[in-house]
Amino acid sequence: MADGSRMPWNGDDTAAQARMTGAYPRIRMRRNRRDAWTRRLVAENAVSVNDLIWPIFVAEGKGKREAINAMPGQFRWSPDRIAEAAAEAAGLGINAVAIFPEIDKAKKDEDGTEALNPDNIVIQAIKAVKSEVPGIGVICDAALDPFTSHGQDGLVRDNYVVNDPTVDVLCRQSVLQADAGCDVISPSDMMDGRVAAIRDALDAAGHGHVRILSYAAKYASAYYMPFRDAIGSGSALGMGDKKTYQMDPANLDEAMREVALDIQEGADMVMVKPGLPYLDVIRRVKDTFHMPTVAYNVSGEYSMLKAAGERGWLDYDRAMMEALLSFKRAGADAILTYSACEAARLIKAGYQG
Ligand code: PBG
Repeated sequence: MADGSRMPWNGDDTAAQARMTGAYPRIRMRRNRRDAWTRRLVAENAVSVNDLIWPIFVAEGKGKREAINAMPGQFRWSPDRIAEAAAEAAGLGINAVAIFPEIDKAKKDEDGTEALNPDNIVIQAIKAVKSEVPGIGVICDAALDPFTSHGQDGLVRDNYVVNDPTVDVLCRQSVLQADAGCDVISPSDMMDGRVAAIRDALDAAGHGHVRILSYAAKYASAYYMPFRDAIGSGSALGMGDKKTYQMDPANLDEAMREVALDIQEGADMVMVKPGLPYLDVIRRVKDTFHMPTVAYNVSGEYSMLKAAGERGWLDYDRAMMEALLSFKRAGADAILTYSACEAARLIKAGYQG
């Protein structure tokens, strides 16, 4: 204690201070930590398999299960095989998969018209998963970046991603996905007003039960790079960025406004993305809105741990489980994570940390 005058005792003898306040040595925080069983009894948070959503990738072709360079352990599946991934997840007790496509370059154009092809690989993947693994929830993005030649999430006019015309396309994309059996539409585009518009479009098409998980606070982040490699939107984007629609990592109050608007517009669940560098946002969203709150443990977060694990610099399993636990501590209900199957296997095997 630098300022001894504020206390009846003087100096930096913390043990003496604690004795005078009646704390140490009677109170010893380490008692509860002494044995594994008390540690388990007093644990405040836990990751359950119920919390996990596995993002999976679909690519054109047949009989394909192709490794993704920047995401060791993750694969691009052709539509005829993607149900194998969903079945693996379901077998582990995972509740939902989120499907992301790598579209052939030849099918990409300025306006991302392949997004509205009622037989594109996302639609094929939804149908395959729904028919072969009926018990698992299917989540799909509403966004155009996998389909556009420029890699932006929306329509570009005069070098700007235009809001309202993009929202119209997202509504049609969402209805097509719902028609194919998608359970949850997840707008990841950060256009203004898209949640309300998509809700109306879904309802008008008879999809009143289809849920909306909005990427409510999605930041313009460097942590998406491996994902963009996986779906081929990174090379399309080139030197471009998404800062005119995704949020500035500097902002927290703005995230609250984004989330409030999406809730008002009818979002059933809200997402914060990325995850680990944004735990403060998750906590504040949960405390403020008390909504089902989902964290996206994004590709860069996954690949960092994988890379360190491969080099022997980290114990991947332990670092990964600790990261997932941090989302629960921050208030997340569910977590999109590429580690979902690995985590589910560890939990099943009785992982204790
Ligand atoms: C695209 C989208 C992105 C992710 C999910 N949907 C990337 C982006 O905005 O460029 C990122 C997921 C990840 O990094 O794991 N709308």
